[in-house]
Amino acid sequence: MCKRNWTIGIAAIILAVGLGGAALAQNLPKLPDQLTLRQSPGSPGPVTFLHASHMGDRPDCTRCHPKLFSIMKQGAGTTAARRITHADMEKGRQCGACHDGKTAFGRDDCTACHRQ
Ligand code: HEC
Ligand code: HEC
Ligand code: HEC
Repeated sequence: MCKRNWTIGIAAIILAVGLGGAALAQNLPKLPDQLTLRQSPGSPGPVTFLHASHMGDRPDCTRCHPKLFSIMKQGAGTTAARRITHADMEKGRQCGACHDGKTAFGRDDCTACHRQ
């Protein structure tokens, strides 16, 4: 009898720790948080991409991976598997899938993305 209560107690603690862990996972601690994208010739300044400001309230990696951006792990900060160009963005690819002035701010203000 006593042994049984003890077992239930342990089960409750394990459950509580498990739920706590799930809550922590929502902070997505393992996301690369600051990526300086590979610069193309003529770029007016380096572009830093922040995953944190692209998660919204519903982290969904498939909005960008792998269709818009393949994840090629090539070392932190130098990811671009494929160059990001405005020619592609004009066609609604890469950043241009959202940064079109409707879904997100457009590409008129260069310093919104190209920073020193
Ligand atoms: C709004 C678009 C967007 C979303 C959503 C997004 N990512 Fe990314 N991610 C990027 C871009 C842009 C890069 C850089 C790609 C490049 O340089 O070619 C990147 C790169 C990465 C890299 C490679 C980092 C490195 O150092 O090589 C990983 C890993 C990654 N993302 C994981 C994730 C995970 C996990 C999620 C979901 C929780 C996610 N991403 C959601 C846009 C996004
Ligand atoms: C899936 C849609 C989506 C894609 C793809 C996307 N963005 Fe965004 N981005 C957003 C939204 C939504 C916001 C926040 C709303 C706003 O400010 O218009 C945002 C905000 C930003 C901001 C301002 C916040 C910050 O992090 O400083 C920058 C800069 C930015 N994006 C750059 C980029 C770049 C560079 C790319 C391509 C590598 C990219 N985004 C791809 C949707 C996207
Ligand atoms: C939504 C984000 C964003 C905005 C706004 C933006 N760019 Fe870019 N641009 C990028 C990214 C990402 C790259 C690829 C990384 C790099 O080359 O620095 C890039 C690359 C470039 C390149 C080199 C590659 C190519 O396509 O020729 C030039 C030139 C350029 N940008 C000019 C501009 C000018 C001029 C403006 C303002 C009228 C501007 N950009 C606004 C994101 C942006």
